[in-house]
Amino acid sequence: MPDHSLPAAADAPGAAPGPGAGGGASAAALQNLARTVAFVSDETTATALRVGLISLGEELEVRKGDLRHAIRHFERDATAQVCIVDIEGIADAQTALEGLAHVCPPNVRVVVIGDNPGIGFYRMLVHGMGVSEYLYKPLTRDTVQQLLLPIVSGASMGQRAQRGGSVIAVCGARGGAGATTLAVNVALELMDASKGHIGLLDLHLQSGAAAAMLSARPGPGLRIALEDPDRADSLFLDRTAIAVEPRLKLIAAEEAFGSAGEVSEAGVNRVAELLRARFNYVVVDLPAPTPPSMQCLFAMARHVVLAMGPDIVSVREAKAVRDFVRRLTGADHVLTVLNRADMKGGLPRELVDKGLGRAPDAVVPDLGPRMLEAVNLGTPAIRHVRALRGALAPLVVELSGVQRAAAASWLPRWLRR
Ligand SMILES: Nc1ncnc2c1ncn2[C@@H]1O[C@H](COP(=O)(O)OP(=O)(O)OP(=O)(O)O)[C@@H](O)[C@H]1O
Ligand SMILES: [Mg+2]
Repeated sequence: MPDHSLPAAADAPGAAPGPGAGGGASAAALQNLARTVAFVSDETTATALRVGLISLGEELEVRKGDLRHAIRHFERDATAQVCIVDIEGIADAQTALEGLAHVCPPNVRVVVIGDNPGIGFYRMLVHGMGVSEYLYKPLTRDTVQQLLLPIVSGASMGQRAQRGGSVIAVCGARGGAGATTLAVNVALELMDASKGHIGLLDLHLQSGAAAAMLSARPGPGLRIALEDPDRADSLFLDRTAIAVEPRLKLIAAEEAFGSAGEVSEAGVNRVAELLRARFNYVVVDLPAPTPPSMQCLFAMARHVVLAMGPDIVSVREAKAVRDFVRRLTGADHVLTVLNRADMKGGLPRELVDKGLGRAPDAVVPDLGPRMLEAVNLGTPAIRHVRALRGALAPLVVELSGVQRAAAASWLPRWLRR
């Protein structure tokens, strides 16, 4: 039987709590006010938000609009920390909210306003999809104060820590196999395909090539965070991440030869978690061979992308990496990319497939000297060598499409690694 009953007070969307039930945010909590953007379809709701959240001052922006406007907004601008969105009149709210989840960074708290008072609907959004709160219309100033002030004042920070974007770990079966080329260009393609926000983390502290491929100059922030995780606070990202595209940030280092210190596993974990909170996808360019302090990323990753060439060392090491990841995680989430498949002197395809025990998941041909030219120009290869895009397309579909197909709900998608 459909459940249309009103929820009990503690579980109630839009219900004002009784005495002692929370009573809004304290003055101290309010010091941590979050930038909030709201998209609402009617003036009554807009007024309730403006008055109920008056203490946000300039941090609150109330716009006329709905879920579609919210999606368009987050495609362009991800600076808001709280998104309030009106879903009244939207036929398939669940699917539409999944569209928002694709572009809205995982650390953004989402509050939904609608006209469905059913407890089942409330539970689906809040418990099933990871929405911070659901309020049904008509909204009152009191409801907004009681239920939304704690959210915009950071009182529900605990919930956020559990969410995270998908980690894609990219490494080479051997040096020079094309890992950085894949990491940089897959990151750009994912940005376009998913419309989400991408963090590209280059863990080569010395002579990392990702920054050169993107014409960026990294500073010392990443090395400090990796060595001393206590110094990696939430401001670390703001200081360290370089915006190379509106929705792609590079986190990299450029240490002088011989000067890199000790990278700790705790530091790698901390940096990865900070990035997962901020980006829908975190693409990591790992050194080959991957040092023990960074191997935790194989476990954290949703996918491991392994670059290999048509040579005997690549085949042997690709198998070894796949076995290692399988032992570590109990799952086979390694995608093997045979790069420069047709290069002169390379192993024939049958031998590569036989050595791997199966066909590679993607094949990129040798694309000639324009690839190196792109590096020297500081232009992403995907924009310089047209054929690369086509070759990477199946991989990008696999990386973004797997998630889309399996995205039954919002929070589980964020919770998945
Ligand atoms: N399919 C390709 N065709 C032609 N050149 C390529 C191809 N893929 C990569 N390259 C070139 O090969 C060189 C090495 O690539 P890349 O830096 O991505 O390798 P890597 O695995 O990251 O190396 P390292 O182990 O040093 O980090 C670069 O100059 C790149 O432009
Ligand atoms: Mg590299």
